Amino acid sequence: MHYKKLSFIIISIFAMSAFAEDYIDSRIDDLLTKMTLEEKIGQMTQYNGFWDATGPMPSEGENKNKLDQLKRGLVGSVLNVSGTKQVKEFQDIAVKQTRLGIPLIFGLDVIHGQKTIFPIPLGETSSWDLEVMERSARDAAIEASAMGINWTFAPMMDVSIDPRWGRVMEGAGEDPYLGAKVAVARIQGFQGKDLSRSDTIAACAKHFAGYGFVTAGRDYNTVDIGTYTLYNTVLPPFKASVAVGVKTVMNAFNTLNGTPSTASAFLQRDILKGQWGFQGVVVSDWASGREMIEHGTAKNLKEVAEQSLKAGSDMDMESYAYNRNLAELVTEKKVDESLINDSVRRILKLKFELGLFDNPYKYINEKREKSALYNKKHIDDSLDAARKSIVLLKNSNGILPLSKKIKNVAVIGSLANDKNSPLGSWRMASDDNTAVSLIEGMSRYTNEFKYEQGVRLVDGKESFFAPLVFNQTDRSGFDAAKKLAKSADVVVMMLGEHGFQTGEGRSQANLGFPGLQQELLEEIYSVNPNIVLLVSSGRPLVLDWADKHLSTIVQTWQLGSQSGHAIAQVLFGDYNPSGKLPMSFPRSVGQLPMTYRHFATGRPGPNVDVFWSHYTDESNDPLYPFGYGLSYTTFEYSKLIINKTANNKISVSAEITNTGTREGEEVVQLYLHDKFASFIRPVKELKGFKKIQLKVGQSLNVKFELSDEELGFYNPEGKFLVEPGEFDVMVGTSSVSGISGSFSI
Ligand code: NOJ
Repeated sequence: MHYKKLSFIIISIFAMSAFAEDYIDSRIDDLLTKMTLEEKIGQMTQYNGFWDATGPMPSEGENKNKLDQLKRGLVGSVLNVSGTKQVKEFQDIAVKQTRLGIPLIFGLDVIHGQKTIFPIPLGETSSWDLEVMERSARDAAIEASAMGINWTFAPMMDVSIDPRWGRVMEGAGEDPYLGAKVAVARIQGFQGKDLSRSDTIAACAKHFAGYGFVTAGRDYNTVDIGTYTLYNTVLPPFKASVAVGVKTVMNAFNTLNGTPSTASAFLQRDILKGQWGFQGVVVSDWASGREMIEHGTAKNLKEVAEQSLKAGSDMDMESYAYNRNLAELVTEKKVDESLINDSVRRILKLKFELGLFDNPYKYINEKREKSALYNKKHIDDSLDAARKSIVLLKNSNGILPLSKKIKNVAVIGSLANDKNSPLGSWRMASDDNTAVSLIEGMSRYTNEFKYEQGVRLVDGKESFFAPLVFNQTDRSGFDAAKKLAKSADVVVMMLGEHGFQTGEGRSQANLGFPGLQQELLEEIYSVNPNIVLLVSSGRPLVLDWADKHLSTIVQTWQLGSQSGHAIAQVLFGDYNPSGKLPMSFPRSVGQLPMTYRHFATGRPGPNVDVFWSHYTDESNDPLYPFGYGLSYTTFEYSKLIINKTANNKISVSAEITNTGTREGEEVVQLYLHDKFASFIRPVKELKGFKKIQLKVGQSLNVKFELSDEELGFYNPEGKFLVEPGEFDVMVGTSSVSGISGSFSI
């Protein structure tokens, strides 16, 4: 294309988007002059879906009250209303019955799929495949938007180094560098390139901030971390999300260093809206404002409203603090109306950007709703994401892959026959029991296996809301399982967590197999040790016993709708596993919290005496480290070359060769260690990764470029420093294995 023509087009695009911005701003100005204070505050109010809109309207109580407010234009958004029928009923009221007809935005936790369910986010991060993660989010957005949703409360990007915290299943693990890349991929998937399309939805970076560091891994607990950890570990994924244009941010339940996040002007005004220039909407977490009363920093909802607004929280999810108090606070001159105008401007802007003012019904299309859900492409994508998320932890006897001609296999474990657990925890809109179970997946390959449950995992109801009750007494299935195992050549055992065992409110002090599963495993082992252990879980478990006794262990997480097919492909070798752990697996709970990004301490050891930083009864190392995962083939790393480039960057390259007997994928990882700095630096930190595919015998030169962004760090005041000095660099197959060199800047 001719240069002049190209620059004309580029200038025109810029001019058009500046024009669109101006146009939106002037429409918002116009609306703001027309809105009453009450209506403005209404826009800042988000209610949970309060009536089944396909039934009669509420005629009494709190729900009737909410309906009245909706009709008066005093609600800006609702959550947990989904399906075109329901959404239309609500939107009709907002558009047709209110004075100004401002449309609602509909939010939902579309975390790992809508109808077609993808692997839980922690599991999917094991793929280290950003395209896969972007695609899953894209598919989820297509399905959710077809059900009337235009805002997801995802991705969660809370870095966590403590698997006791049940919400690790929702995040991308322990590393801020990987976490930032994954957050960006997911945001791009949800929001697409054009938010005004009817199949893209606004994303939400959550939870701002520090939620992954709840003390002792107990959900909703206090967070007390230094700003050094805040800037270097917690904030990077959020900063990257803002840079890539995430439309909304959710604050958090937790307090951070003494202040509830929702009331933190430091987080929301200084950092997010100030330093990072975030122009979008900050939504509170569910009643996180109201919880300030329990935290003891606000006496009542009026103080909640004042503190939250001043701190920069734009929309109140289910606290009823803003709509009950802000008007009075303005009259009393305790809050300035300009703060309210700013919040409302952000909310209205989002509605304009979504295209809701042009067409409030654009997400409501029954025909699309029917065709978009569970479509073939999404199912194929879910299968691909699932198999890429599986991590081969151990295969020391080469039992895997199984021959397709194998005879006489015993399959044991209630999870092997479970069509619900693989759907994981956050699957709000999905249909129960729709995952492909392991047994169904295996049946595609062979009929030469028999199944015994061995032991029931859960007694009673399985619910997203209530605690699970595990079977601790009924061993009646043990004998049949043992008999089957004894006569089998290979035993495939699937053990682990129920799908509802991780997620919000599901912290655990014990990380072994729940219920009687460990007992069953040991009993089966006593009659046939030739076991392939498939671990299904929403968090890293303690697999110490299994690692000591078994030759073959596969981490399968909760893989979503296509779980059984994905696992069977790995078992029978149709897919060569390539997943790598995004979180360290501890040897025992007492080691937690743990991360490969730890500091050296003044006494790194090991010493012969006891006076070094260690446990006297346990190793410091994880059982399986961050970045670890095996393949059916082997990769050799060689020829590490480090150079300074002309533009003052550091280039690092290595040659990777497939030295095994199968084609395979490898995640090539680069770690840095800043040897001497003005602040302590981690012993190593991930600063680059590339996923490659190699045929048998093939070699590939993989190159990384390190710039200030990778070489620098934040001081405790949040200033980014790049200091001259020496760095160690390792390129390898995990955080503990690779080839190393060094350079100076
Ligand atoms: C509370 C959770 O912390 C948050 O992540 C979620 O988006 C909201 N509830 C809404 O369901």
